[in-house]
Amino acid sequence: MSWNMSRKRQLLILFSFSIGGLYLQSNLLQIPQCVCGNCHHSNDPWFSTRFNTSYHPLMTRNTSVVSAETFQWWKRLQNTRSGWEEYKKVVDEIFQMIPDKEMYRDAALERCRVCSVVGNSGNLINSHYGPMIDDGDFVLRINRGPTKGFEQDVGNKTTHRIIYPESAIDIDNSTHMVFFAFKMVDLKWLVSLFKQQNKLVKKTIKANMSLVMVASPRFMKYVHHQWLQKHGRYPSTGFMTLIMALHICDKVRVFGFGADKNGNWNHYFERIPPAYRTGIHGGNFEYDTLKELQKRNKLELYG
Ligand code: C5P
Repeated sequence: MSWNMSRKRQLLILFSFSIGGLYLQSNLLQIPQCVCGNCHHSNDPWFSTRFNTSYHPLMTRNTSVVSAETFQWWKRLQNTRSGWEEYKKVVDEIFQMIPDKEMYRDAALERCRVCSVVGNSGNLINSHYGPMIDDGDFVLRINRGPTKGFEQDVGNKTTHRIIYPESAIDIDNSTHMVFFAFKMVDLKWLVSLFKQQNKLVKKTIKANMSLVMVASPRFMKYVHHQWLQKHGRYPSTGFMTLIMALHICDKVRVFGFGADKNGNWNHYFERIPPAYRTGIHGGNFEYDTLKELQKRNKLELYG
């Protein structure tokens, strides 16, 4: 074998070891390869004390079983009196009607799923963000935020609509409903929707039941405690949605968040009463956290 050949072979072996070493190191130290150019899990203590992948946003029948502490926390949100047995019964009924499937636990080095999270802020007016929003693989819209008539600023694609009973609107056949329950009657509302007998809550909506997902109370508590350090009575639906996006997507773009100059959560699609402020939610703390996430390159904030 010529000197040239053995030298080449040595270099090849060295190269293979370096690549193998890097791969092992990144796996052992859990430093992901950021194919999206945006790395959630980087070595950032501020982020890693908050972000925890063991808290999955969506519930399955198994993960609906939460600790007594979490259940008490959830019950206190809106003074639910009924107990664990009733919760179990309703959740059981729900999973007889919706898929009992672990969703979006498919993180992989080569995955590059882009989420557009669209809040309802008035700062979307004349933004022309529509095409950029629709460019996301997932477009998550919250509560009543409409698209019709606002396409230029908010786009027209909706893959997920995040709602709770009081904020529910009709959802088209190909869009996922992501349902947040803040009290027992909310879970019962979902059951009554399936059964088409809406005795409990007057309001009824259209939705494709095979695409319904239910947010986990454990995840809601995690957002309140770990991300918001208990600011506000509980997190806003919008803030929980953007933390969910960090959990299920590799790149997160955020639009339509931020109060008006008077500190009110104004809407792009309607005038709201003055001094609405941010209700029971820690609006300022949520927005500061959002800005911090942007500063640390964990998401892109537009608006
Ligand atoms: O007002 P609504 O709750 O429907 O808005 C959806 C979400 O958008 C809120 O939960 C909040 O997180 C966010 N929002 C905001 N600034 C506004 C309006 C809404 O950050 N001006």
